[in-house]
Amino acid sequence: AYTAEPFVPKRGGLPALRRAAADCRGCPLHREATQTVFGAGEATARLMLVGEQPGDQEDRQGEPFVGPAGRLLDRALAEAGLDPADTYVTNAVKHFKFTRAEPRKRRIHKSPTLRETTACGPWLAAELARVEPELIVLLGATAGKALLGSSFRVTQVRGTVLEEEIHGRPERLVPTVHPSSVLRAEDRDGAFRGLVSDLRVAAQALG
Ligand code: URA
Ligand code: SF4
Repeated sequence: AYTAEPFVPKRGGLPALRRAAADCRGCPLHREATQTVFGAGEATARLMLVGEQPGDQEDRQGEPFVGPAGRLLDRALAEAGLDPADTYVTNAVKHFKFTRAEPRKRRIHKSPTLRETTACGPWLAAELARVEPELIVLLGATAGKALLGSSFRVTQVRGTVLEEEIHGRPERLVPTVHPSSVLRAEDRDGAFRGLVSDLRVAAQALG
């Protein structure tokens, strides 16, 4: 089975993890992508945000949430009163998955499979163990399935505080939609307000 497990160092902090992740070959996604996009933020962050996978801009720049979805997320965090400096941001899958409609044309995002998400899971587990956040915000279905299993449905639990044991540690999680889904929504303002209102639940839970 595909797995990142043999590439994940047992010791060391986030910088050691990030260095090792750059050479991960745990699944085929590293072949077409430019680079590994590891999480960003301080190990002392109280809040961890988990997205799906890097997009086109993230793949080029090597940083999570620096493209259009990231800008929207930053605005939503600010409106919800969450401090980006107190946030660790990462993705369930660390390599960009895409197709091209035609050779040398624009790269189109493709959702990772459950196999790929599962393969990349040891990196997310290692980030959780280093950061030990007080609260996790799940941005969309892929992040939810990665941490809570394949039966996760974002519409059923968004904007609520879940308490679940993950890798042997009790965690509090607030699921919400993925910021990219807000960009695609017909009622973009309404979808944005929904995201902000879920993030306010997270802000309240953090205290
Ligand atoms: N979408 C994500 O899920 N993560 C990113 O880093 C960028 C876009
Ligand atoms: Fe490794 Fe994850 Fe990249 Fe697959 S997607 S190669 S498991 S870092």
